[in-house]
Amino acid sequence: MRTCLIAGNWKMHLTPAEGAALATTLRQRIGTRLNLDVVLCPPFVSLPAVADALRGSNLKLGAQNVFWADAGAYTGQISPTMLIAVGCEYVILGHSETRGRFGKPDPHLTEQHLRYFGENEATLNLKLRAVLPHGLKPILCVGETLQERTAGQTEAIIRQQLEGALQGIDADELYELVIAYEPVWAIGTGQVCDAEEANRVCGFIRQQLKDLYAPELGEQVRVLYGGSVTAANAQGLLHQPEIDGVLVGGASLNADEFVQITYCAP
Ligand code: PGA
Repeated sequence: MRTCLIAGNWKMHLTPAEGAALATTLRQRIGTRLNLDVVLCPPFVSLPAVADALRGSNLKLGAQNVFWADAGAYTGQISPTMLIAVGCEYVILGHSETRGRFGKPDPHLTEQHLRYFGENEATLNLKLRAVLPHGLKPILCVGETLQERTAGQTEAIIRQQLEGALQGIDADELYELVIAYEPVWAIGTGQVCDAEEANRVCGFIRQQLKDLYAPELGEQVRVLYGGSVTAANAQGLLHQPEIDGVLVGGASLNADEFVQITYCAP
């Protein structure tokens, strides 16, 4: 049995004080839930304040990114050991926004700017290799753009993203891996993927893990859906057999909305 996982990706929202206040509210309302993993992923600077607010509850802490070295001359980067030191158990890797692929085009970002986000399969492979030995649980995001979907490339893109990120990593390191299917066109757009289609693609992802590794790994790894999840559509998504949870962006910033999403867990 795979435990349902509901993660809130706060992206670049909330100061440490605001984040601690939201985390305190969530702790009061859902902090003792059992048989459900709820993970809050605030910006780096809010991790210590949110960790304090969550201490002693069942709610877990995650980061939105990480660098692959433990220390060194890497201005502006954060290492796996630093995340562990502030209490992180999870880390989001390869979110489409760190890959420079935005569901909702930002008028301030030109083609040239987008290239500087710079995340790719090679950097993700380094990051996975860096976090797994520390026991940090990666939430690896994959998904196609609207253009790729329209061109019938959804499966090919996802296979390429999985194979590239996981290259050379042994199955026995991957049992705590979480994968999030996040169609880029659904992120921040209000256009949620149809639950049956999300289920189909999550099943495809699980099958890739079975083919690349072993059936047991595919059965154990949790596959989430992310992209415009709200309290109104969470129920349908969370009751699909291949969907083990949701990665929530915008709706995770509202306590009522996020709490309601957790109540939709089977
Ligand atoms: P959204 O973001 O729920 O705001 O669409 C989801 C995500 O980016 O993980």
